[in-house]
Amino acid sequence: MSELILGIESSCDETGVALVRRPLAGGLPRLLAHALHSQIEMHQAYGGVVPELASRDHIRRVLPLTEAVLQQAGVALAQVDVVAYTRGPGLAGALLVGAGVACALAAALGKPALGVHHLEGHLLSPFLSADAPQFPFVALLVSGGHTQLMRVDGVGQYALLGETIDDAAGEAFDKSAKLLGLGYPGGPALARLAEQGDPRAFKLPRPLLHSGDLDFSFAGLKTAVLTQARKLGQELPERRADLAASTQAAIVDVLVRKTLAALEQSGLRRVVVAGGVGANRLLRATLDAACAERGWRVHYPELHLCTDNGAMIAMAAAMRLQAGLAQPQQGYAFDVKPRWPLHEI
Ligand code: KG4
Ligand code: ZN
Repeated sequence: MSELILGIESSCDETGVALVRRPLAGGLPRLLAHALHSQIEMHQAYGGVVPELASRDHIRRVLPLTEAVLQQAGVALAQVDVVAYTRGPGLAGALLVGAGVACALAAALGKPALGVHHLEGHLLSPFLSADAPQFPFVALLVSGGHTQLMRVDGVGQYALLGETIDDAAGEAFDKSAKLLGLGYPGGPALARLAEQGDPRAFKLPRPLLHSGDLDFSFAGLKTAVLTQARKLGQELPERRADLAASTQAAIVDVLVRKTLAALEQSGLRRVVVAGGVGANRLLRATLDAACAERGWRVHYPELHLCTDNGAMIAMAAAMRLQAGLAQPQQGYAFDVKPRWPLHEI
């Protein structure tokens, strides 16, 4: 006996839909199919996400993607048991598209809908990979909007250990990339350019590195990059790779050292890295090496599931249902939560 869960993600600039099968007797849910449309090209002309354009594009994409997923899985819409969607956090208009479509589908099918926390989706996405983690673990959540260290004892058991007091790590990548004249999204562009540069070329600040707590701050780094770029003036074009490499090194250094401190302080020996910045190769290599030295385990989602996708939303819904934590909603009413701290769910 099993249950089919459709998941819809529309919190920002990616429309994602996926189908997961949840075995009712227990065991990990399994991904049957997923489809994704990235709006990156559409927003590129504006240098960042334009919320109104994002919402309109989600409307265009969500049903064709849903049809594609059902076809890939060989499943009829009527067989879907639960329709899950991202309830927050994210852009209000974009969230409303996914929530509205999910709840309309559920109502039409006479099945329940289930709102999911976007960051819980990221957090549980490594359970979709062959080498799934075991609880408890430390989670480093690094996305465009969030940078948090959490202690995770089980599904729904999330204690905040530390978080950014200003910009998120992804934002630090994106804003620095913009200052260097790189396109949107800046993270991957800056990381690519950094591969040709010297990470020791410029001394950039490592904010809060010795603060003694597990909080982060990245706003000062952006200012330091701007100051350095201005100082270079005409020389900037030929030193851009060096400045990109030094910026990436500063961000990764802080993320890795705080994560190691979280592991040390909590006594846990396992860490899960999730969110878009988790795709960063230097972050992965540095954390892998540091943890290998200490005999600790690091888990990541598969590379293509690091950034936003529907699979993580369907999976989070399935795992919440599996843990007996979710109350799927029947009926027509729904809401979204653009601001929604993960430890408050
Ligand atoms: O999780 P995500 O797809 O969306 C949010 O929920 O925010 O994360 C997007 C963030 C962006 O800031 C993007 O620049 C960053 O992840 N990112 C990267 C890389 N790939 C994506 N940052 C550094 N290196 C990468 N390879
Ligand atoms: Zn995300």
